[in-house]
Amino acid sequence: MQKQTVIAIQGAMDGEIAVLLEAMQTYTEEKHGSYSFFLGEVEKIPLVVSRTEIGMVNAAAATALLIDKYQPSVIINQGTAGGHDPQLNVFDTIIGKEIVHINNFVSNHLEEGEGMSPESWVPMQTFVREENNKLKDVFVFESDSELVKVALELGPEYTNGKVVEGRIGTADFWNREIDRINWLHEKFQTRGEEMEAYAVAQIARAFNTPFLSIRTISNSEITQEYIEDLDTAGKYCAEFSLLVAKTIYQQNLVLQTR
Ligand code: 5AD
Repeated sequence: MQKQTVIAIQGAMDGEIAVLLEAMQTYTEEKHGSYSFFLGEVEKIPLVVSRTEIGMVNAAAATALLIDKYQPSVIINQGTAGGHDPQLNVFDTIIGKEIVHINNFVSNHLEEGEGMSPESWVPMQTFVREENNKLKDVFVFESDSELVKVALELGPEYTNGKVVEGRIGTADFWNREIDRINWLHEKFQTRGEEMEAYAVAQIARAFNTPFLSIRTISNSEITQEYIEDLDTAGKYCAEFSLLVAKTIYQQNLVLQTR
């Protein structure tokens, strides 16, 4: 059987990777620029844990370095998210089947004094260079469907809330206005928002590397729970992501999806 390469698990913040470092027990840290990569094993499964830092630019840079330096067989981007769906509570987990850019708009011309009109902004698409050298416009990036299936099948093992599939919105923006959150939810069908997945998915696609998004809700303006607990959500998400990574490895899935 062909040897599998390393599985990559990313988190933007320390609280989103702490569980993974603990699980590896011993690891080596390699730094490229300001980006840290932690190499080790969990139950003989080779892992590279990447701290991407927060935001889309960091996530893109960390992902390009990750692929170039370590050639992971799969990239799991995971961590915390804000809720966009009234059906979802804090600590529920979304398997990000689709990722959409919720901060990429063109506005219509308005004259001086006519103000700003965010509701009328038109979403823009992302251009992706295809293997045939043609440009393709993309509106959503998708997680690898086989990997989504594995993660959803493991849902019953997650005891901190529900595991659902859905669309994640990414922006360099933390939305707290309920009308805007509802507008994004309706316009883009987002179930949660965060600040990295779209950038990671875009780079993973550029390098033809299978990608999976997993996010645990750490805060929601629309459920009257009044919780903002990134540490606990980060821990829960990393624990679940590790289980997903182990299962992917044990099922030898990565090779099939490439
Ligand atoms: N909006 C945007 N990002 C959020 N994050 C958690 N909740 C939200 C939210 N409501 C995540 C981002 C980023 C960090 C600030 O926390 O992905 O890494």
